[in-house]
Amino acid sequence: MTNEELIRVSQEVLTQNYGRFPIVLVKGEGCQVWDVEGKEYLDFVAGIGVCNLGHCYPKVVQAIREQAEKLLHVSNLYHIEPQIQLARILVEHSFADRVFFCNSGTEANEAAIKLARKYSQDKFGSGRHEIISLLKSFHGRTLGALAATGQEKFHKGFEPLLPGFKFVPQDDISAMEAAISASTCAVLVEPIQAEGGVNLPAENYLRELKRLCERGKILLIYDEVQVGMGRTGKLFAYEHYGAPPDILTMAKGLAGGVPIGAMLATEKVAQSFTPGTHAATFGGNPLATAAGVAALRATLEDGVLENCRKVSSHFLQRLQVLKNKYSFVKEVRGKGLMIGLELAREGKSVVQECLQRGFLINCTNETVLRFIPPLIITTKEIDRLVQALDEILATWK
Ligand SMILES: Cc1ncc(COP(=O)(O)O)c(C=O)c1O
Repeated sequence: MTNEELIRVSQEVLTQNYGRFPIVLVKGEGCQVWDVEGKEYLDFVAGIGVCNLGHCYPKVVQAIREQAEKLLHVSNLYHIEPQIQLARILVEHSFADRVFFCNSGTEANEAAIKLARKYSQDKFGSGRHEIISLLKSFHGRTLGALAATGQEKFHKGFEPLLPGFKFVPQDDISAMEAAISASTCAVLVEPIQAEGGVNLPAENYLRELKRLCERGKILLIYDEVQVGMGRTGKLFAYEHYGAPPDILTMAKGLAGGVPIGAMLATEKVAQSFTPGTHAATFGGNPLATAAGVAALRATLEDGVLENCRKVSSHFLQRLQVLKNKYSFVKEVRGKGLMIGLELAREGKSVVQECLQRGFLINCTNETVLRFIPPLIITTKEIDRLVQALDEILATWK
């Protein structure tokens, strides 16, 4: 079948809640994907930060194959070997003492919101349930995570939202201080805002936030759903800023392309999740966590973080050349391979033109071209994209 034929069926049978590009992708390897008609694309979207190891990373595929032949699913009524292994590696490489597994980023944030409220009730009694997050943040689409998301466009049509959420601007520590009250149980932030336009925090922001939280006995929660798993050149983005949290959520890249989510917490906080307080049928299932073990080991052992750091500076330098050349390129910013190029106008047509030329890129917040390729991307592949961007931008007047 052709792209067009399949898309016609898709439009008949799927809910139309995605603005999809007109291609049907059927195969991937490394940083390349192919559509159903055989056209090749170089992928700078990576499933929106899922395919950090590229497509079909051989060690992940092997682990999935082996696990699929052994045990696909049981239940969290029983212990699951790869789940234990994955939790152990996460604990060994982070601030955390305990891990709860689920299936997506939004679910990980639901778990974090529930744990923060429960911990606060256990420790301080009722009435301390409020969570403060940031304007321009994105935490997911389920009702709790949606209420924590600081962008009105995602709320529209779904009111009334879950009460107990407040928003302040990123980097404004006085606004955060003013927003904190006797009802506050936690502060929830993305260390680097991704969907909001690749917004890096000021150098001291997270440290000051941590100090504020410690002073008020408020939990600090990081949403690393998009910036975790090596995306910024370190396993976790918080490692760049010297301010570890009490709770951290992750998902996307954790299992190399298999759906998974996780919430990491310190011992003190995790104590509040006692038997029966929270659960997920598929959370940490054998297939997902076997893939996770393989993906996490590869991220730590196969030079992935090193490559990410190395090619990142090359990428940023090359994009900076475009900024110097074109007045409508306002800013180039990023960390590791979470990179944004902000335009003075809408970026949609650049994304479409890139697609025509065989490059997948994405635009967030209307004007920010976002580049989140697999962390195994090479400088040559980056140069191919930058050359194409240069040619496309040269046609803009
Ligand atoms: C920072 C952040 N948190 C949460 C989510 C929600 O993740 P999911 O789509 O897996 O529910 C996303 C998704 O883009 C995200 O970027």
